[in-house]
Order: sequence, then structure tokens, then C-alpha cells
Amino acid sequence: MSAIIQASPLENLSQQPLTPGDSCVLIIFGASGDLTARKLIPSLYNLACEGCMNPDFEVLGIGRTPMSSGEFRKKTGEAAAKSKDTRDFSESGWKDFERRLQYMVGDVNEPKFYPQLRGHLNEMEKTGSSPNHLFYVSTPASVAGPIIGGLGTVGLNRRDRGWTRIVLEKPFGRDLESAQALNAVVRGVFDENKVYRIDHYLGKETVQNILVFRFGNSLFEPVWNRNYIDYVEIAAAETVGVENRAAFYEETGALRDMVANHLLQLLALTAMEPPLAFDADSVREQKVQVFRSIRPMSVEDVARFTARGQYGSGAIDGKRVPGYRHEPGVNPNSTTETYAAVRFYIENWRWAGVPFYIRTGKHLARNLTEIRVHLKPTPQALFARMSSVIEPNVITISIQPDEGISIAFEAKRPGAQVQTVTVQANFSYQTSFGSKGPVAYETLLLDSMRGDATLFTRGDEVEAEWRIITPIEEAWARLPPPDFPNYAAGSEGPASWHEVLKPGGNGAEQTVGHGQGNRKTKEE
Ligand code: BG6
Repeated sequence: MSAIIQASPLENLSQQPLTPGDSCVLIIFGASGDLTARKLIPSLYNLACEGCMNPDFEVLGIGRTPMSSGEFRKKTGEAAAKSKDTRDFSESGWKDFERRLQYMVGDVNEPKFYPQLRGHLNEMEKTGSSPNHLFYVSTPASVAGPIIGGLGTVGLNRRDRGWTRIVLEKPFGRDLESAQALNAVVRGVFDENKVYRIDHYLGKETVQNILVFRFGNSLFEPVWNRNYIDYVEIAAAETVGVENRAAFYEETGALRDMVANHLLQLLALTAMEPPLAFDADSVREQKVQVFRSIRPMSVEDVARFTARGQYGSGAIDGKRVPGYRHEPGVNPNSTTETYAAVRFYIENWRWAGVPFYIRTGKHLARNLTEIRVHLKPTPQALFARMSSVIEPNVITISIQPDEGISIAFEAKRPGAQVQTVTVQANFSYQTSFGSKGPVAYETLLLDSMRGDATLFTRGDEVEAEWRIITPIEEAWARLPPPDFPNYAAGSEGPASWHEVLKPGGNGAEQTVGHGQGNRKTKEE
């Protein structure tokens, strides 16, 4: 049983106005794709409505699909009207915004395309467009290298007048080797301070709030270490399945899609040391230190400390859905995982011995992304004769769907006897600030227009992430093939997850000293 203590609503604390971006032409590669329609254009539209778009901001969409600028406007307008990321869509608002959109047909694999692009941008500049160029590469990872190289060959990587920056969407490579190769191409063409590698989780308000919560309060930091923390769980459960992304997902899987970037970033922000300042290099330096301190996994460790799953048929919101292997475009014998769970150890003074349990999956029972920090149990002698159990404190940072922070602690149940009950202090963004903050892509697009790279990942950081993930992928390829499907769509995920929770890991006898105190997962 639990009671709720609600933090009082904060008055007049609605969102602060955002600082407008610089003037620029945003050149989107992959403009006919899903991300542009569902995320980028709705976020740009929101920014324009908030009044934080420079009057000299324009979009030049580039794609292979033949389309006129008019058709591009129509297509993106329809998508923006439907997107859950769009705030306050109106016909008049869209009419005002769509003037800024242009489209150019181009095959980025063709060397002759790049002089055409340069010519087009020169023409735009002559007719009054901004000389600043923000390239946005939202294409499959295999095309990113040729685009960067192509921009370099025609000199679009540097400007005499104005600035040039490049935003690179995830996935950044598919393993350590390909990420290193892509970084080498990037560094050969662009200076590192012009490169913005995107991980949209870093643009989420609650994710940024982790640092304020930890370092802006004297209450939490003293206990934020192995002396007080028993274990940490980071979970991202999704009800959606693979949707129409089979080609991408078959090559990617849950570990590469979610753990290699979004969830490792959440882990880094939860575990990092305080940065010297909230600037790009100080923050990124501390995150890289966390990645470098994660214990590398041998094949045996991978067998004990990881679990993978693939959904079979089931029901989501009462509707029957097919299993992954029956989704359009998926190999009927696919061994791609749609669920991944990993137990990480960070070997430094702050965290030695504290397990970090990371898990994510598609077509699970609920949509929920959260970090739960479980503190150690108290010595129980004082309450030994009581019938109720004293639960350890838990700090929950909810990232979605309800953004907020809650702290569970014990209180005395009213009455003559001393009996305890778990109560919660809750902070909810919605209740306290009245509105949701900007969506992640708004924050990140605006930062890239303003030249602030704090919320983007650095080249060595991406490589450090792959250094953790690649051995797991390699070990999975060597271990006996999993018996897929092993969880039903709409369920809590595969039972093998519980093996990862066992003291020594999956099938092992050895016990680990920490993190076994009073562990309880949300599902139990
Ligand atoms: C993307 C993944 O990066 O993040 C998707 O490719 C996933 O598979 C998505 O669904 C989750 O993002 P969000 O913001 O909805 O949690």
C-alpha cells in the first residue's frame, strides 16, 4: 500500500521562452523519409510557432523520391497535422511556415549530385538566403560516409562567409569498426566542433533534469554511490512493434537500436561525476569516463549477464498482433532480438559492485521509460518485532509517458501500533509547470542552429559506446541461437530476464556482493 504526498503546484513557472536560432538553410538528406515527416518538420513547425525561428530560416529537403517543392509541402503538412509531436496545428500557421520549405531530387550516391547541390545553394544565397548551412544526415548509416565525402569534394564543408555544421542521425555505424571508419571520414572533412551526432534522448526534458536533480541539490549527491545504492534499473518498454521499419530493424535489433545509444546515455547521466561546467566538453568528458569504466564482457559474462527476446503473436490494447517473424519484410526465421536486457558493472570508486540493469523491448505490455535507483535496506533491528516489512527507498526518474521524479520512503501508519507503510513524494512536470516542455527534436534542432553541442555525442563517446556493445553482439553470434519467439506481444518480456537478475547471473553459481539486498522489479 502506498500513500501520495503531492508536491505543491508551482505557480507562474511555465516554460521559459526559447532563444531563437541563427539564420540558416537546413539541408536534410533523407527528406522523403519517415523521420523528416514525423519528427523533424513537426519540431521545426513548433519552433516557428513559438517565435524562435529566425526569419531567415529555410529548409532544403533532399531525397531520391521525385517530388516538387509543392508536393513536399503538402506531404509534410499532412504528416505534421497528424504527428503527436505537433503542438497547436492550424492551417494558417502551416501556410505561414511552409513558405520556408523547398525540395530537391537527388541521388546522394551519384558524385554528380554534389556540384548540383553546391550550385543550388549558391543560387539560393544570391537570392537572399542565409549563407549559413546546417546539413542534417537522416539516411541509413551506410550512406552517411558517401554524403560527408561528397560535401567535402565540392567544398561545402567550409564557408568563407557564414558557418557550416553537420548533424548526424543515429545509428552511427553498426559496431566499433564501422563507427571508427565513419569517424575517420567525418574528421577528414569536418572539424569536430562542427559535428553534431544526435541521440534524441538527450533532448528530452527529464533526461536533462537528471543532472540538475543530482548536482543542483545537496540532498542526493552524498548518497549517490556504492555505500548507499544497492542497484539501478533503467528500462524502456514500448508497446509499438517494428512498424514499417523491418529492413532497418532486421539489421539492427534492440541492443543496437536502443541500448547502444539511448539507454547507455541514461546510464552515463545517472552515473557520471559532476562536470566542471555545463558545456559540451565538460559534460561529454565525464560521460566518456563512465563508458570507459564499464567492465568489458567476455563470452561467459554475456551468457550470464544478458538476455534477449523476440516477440511472438499476442494482443496489444486488446487487438491481436502478429509475431515479429510474420511482420511484413521480416525473415520468417529471423534471429533479430526485439528485446534486450543487460547487467552492467561500472568499475570505479563510486560504483564498484553496484549492478545497473538495463532492458528494453518492443510490443511489451506498456509504454514506460524510467530510471529506478534502489537504495540499500536499513539495518532492521529497530523494527525487528514489527509485522510490517521496511522497504528500501527508491528514487524513480520517469522519462515517459509521465515525466517526473518520485521518492518512495517509509512512514508510520496512523494508529497505536508502530506499523510502517511506503509513501511517495511525487514531482510531476505536468502538474508543476502546467505544460510539457519542448519535444526532444525541437531542443536539439534549436541547439544545432545556435551552435551548442552539449546535448550531442562526441566522436570518442560513440566509439566508447560501441566498445561496450560490440562484444555483446559478437558473443550473441557465437552462443547457441536463441529459441525465438520467447515472449508474447503484450506481455512483460521473456522469462530469461529473471535469470539476468540472479545473483551470479544466468545459470552461474557465484554470487555478487552487492545489489541482491531487497531486489524487486516492477514486474514482480
Ligand atoms: C528510436 C528507435 O531511436 O527511438 C526506435 O530507433 C524507438 O525504435 C525510438 O521506438 C524511441 O523513442 P521515444 O522518444 O519514442 O522513446
